Amino acid sequence: MTNAVHIEHIAHPSPLSAEQRAQLMANPGFGKVFTDHMVTIKWTDEKGWHDGKLTARAPFSIDPAAAVLHYAQEIFEGMKAYRAEDGLSLFRPEQNARRFAESAKRMAMPVMSEDVFIEAVKTLVKADADWVPEGDGSFYLRPFMFASEAFLGVRPSHEYTFCVIASPVGAYFKGGYKPVTVWATDKYTRAASGGTGAAKCGGNYAASLVAQAEASANGCDQVVFTDAKEHRWIEELGGMNICFIMDDNRLITPPLSGTILPGITRNSILEIAKEEGLTVEERPYSFEEWKEDAISGRMREAFACGTAAVIASVGTVRYDGGEFFIGDGEDGKITARLRAKLVGIQRGQEEDRYGWFHKI
Ligand code: PLP
Ligand code: COI
Repeated sequence: MTNAVHIEHIAHPSPLSAEQRAQLMANPGFGKVFTDHMVTIKWTDEKGWHDGKLTARAPFSIDPAAAVLHYAQEIFEGMKAYRAEDGLSLFRPEQNARRFAESAKRMAMPVMSEDVFIEAVKTLVKADADWVPEGDGSFYLRPFMFASEAFLGVRPSHEYTFCVIASPVGAYFKGGYKPVTVWATDKYTRAASGGTGAAKCGGNYAASLVAQAEASANGCDQVVFTDAKEHRWIEELGGMNICFIMDDNRLITPPLSGTILPGITRNSILEIAKEEGLTVEERPYSFEEWKEDAISGRMREAFACGTAAVIASVGTVRYDGGEFFIGDGEDGKITARLRAKLVGIQRGQEEDRYGWFHKI
């Protein structure tokens, strides 16, 4: 059901003062500071989407038998708003709306129309516009939906809650553009064929945490997963896609085979890379090839990409038994060029030939 939804605005009784807000926004980190408002929309079998509200951000009251708490029927999105020169903007929000719909289908949840999704997001950005940082910071938006019916049988819920919250953010990785170190796990996988790897559901992230903890214990910033069948083919990181740049101007990235998340940053970079004269190869790429190409120097750069992290060079790959290095320990040159183009378009500072810049 994809009916239009009215979003009622309910005045916040006590929004933070400009001083309190400025203090929180001075050094926000990632995902720790939240804005004044949230948008919620309910769904039931009988009414479809209804009861849209913009309210003060507040805890949910949730029944202990709510299906999400037991069977993890939950999906989310990650997107950003920016303070462009002449106002606020989003980047390819219809792509987030489409992916949210695909995630919903995979998790047997109701589909929200693109229009309602974008309207909900825009409503929150407008209400909390003062929280959108100036300069390099951005305004991370987290639309999500969970099964709110109180029922312990295992079947799709008959009630759902959709919500959007927002968080002013700085860099995802500490250390700016210093290349990150990744841990290539040969013990854990993120997703298997027929599973939920291509959906943005909370369970995928829960399943990645023990591998991420192992990465941290080995001094790494992120974990990189290989395929579930052979443990051989590079897939993606816990929360980012991955691309490799070779010495002959090729950009290699694992294909969207159903086990990795179709990143909007990934898709945008592939377009920009083609325009920048790189040859894009979406193909399976193995850990062994990665090691050989990095050691021989055929691989010049590698980077992780996603909304939260934008584009982060990978400098070191560690695994059970050794490590290897990519490039010279500095942010990759092509990586930096692609990042500059992407960020320029996101912030309305570069010509947008693609129609990606979405003015609010
Ligand atoms: N892969 C995973 C598992 C992610 O969580 C994300 C982040 O959303 C990405 C890739 C990158 O996707 P996007 O560029 O759309 O943010
Ligand atoms: C994003 O980049 O939006 C993500 O979802 C990654 C992570 C914060 C979960």
